[in-house]
Amino acid sequence: MFPARLLWHGVYMNILFTGDMVGSTGRQVFLRVTQRLRAEGRIDLVIANTENAAGGRGPSPEIVEAIFASGADAQTLGDHVWDDKTLTSLLNTEPRLIRPANFPPAAAGRGMTTIETGEGPVCMISLVGRVFMDPVDCPFRTADRLIGMAKTKTILVEFHAEATSEKIALGRYLDGRVTAVLGTHTHVQTSDETILPNGTAYITDLGMTGPKDSVIGREVEPVVQRFITGMPQKFDAAKKDPALEGVILDIDMKTGKARSIERIRARE
Ligand SMILES: [Fe+2]
Ligand SMILES: [Fe+2]
Repeated sequence: MFPARLLWHGVYMNILFTGDMVGSTGRQVFLRVTQRLRAEGRIDLVIANTENAAGGRGPSPEIVEAIFASGADAQTLGDHVWDDKTLTSLLNTEPRLIRPANFPPAAAGRGMTTIETGEGPVCMISLVGRVFMDPVDCPFRTADRLIGMAKTKTILVEFHAEATSEKIALGRYLDGRVTAVLGTHTHVQTSDETILPNGTAYITDLGMTGPKDSVIGREVEPVVQRFITGMPQKFDAAKKDPALEGVILDIDMKTGKARSIERIRARE
């Protein structure tokens, strides 16, 4: 008796999507855990949000390339995309690297891409929220427009946003029209992973791939001092208690529907 996955190989695909990667600690735990999950046959494709992969700040082209080499099939960014000015040309030329689509149209890079896999094409769309964040175009209308342009059944929407209400609302707005809506940005994993009523997989936040002994990835004491004194502090990325957080989506590539969403927290 073969497991269903083997019988149906080529139809079902498991995608690991990981939350905001922070610093070298995050890069190292990402490499170790994804290698193990691949060796165990649990994942076919890996997508990582890497917006804080350079010491907590946006990555350089060299860091992006190193993360591809360490096992990411695609990478997404967020509000930290412009931290390293040298990333601009790679954003324009690397189709596996996207930033939020609802930035001004003249911004470098792209907010939507299609990854070709052995099991079929996967469209990815990145959006950033507007609540407690810098002004951008409407993520809801941008999603409508881009979903209309997508030529694949499997569409993953990452929503990089602060407010839980905005994220849940976008999930419900897109329910039944996309494979998954996955939140990022807060660095705190939520336990609300679910399949919404019309079949879209959803989680409010994937969490963080980085040092858990921290304040959302930074050393604790400077952040505490900043709140106590109101004075500027240097926020270095923390190092201790690395974990990879995210979800594994089991997708029927013929229909583009997620069969399940499993929340992952691999703590070392
Ligand atoms: Fe962010
Ligand atoms: Fe982040």
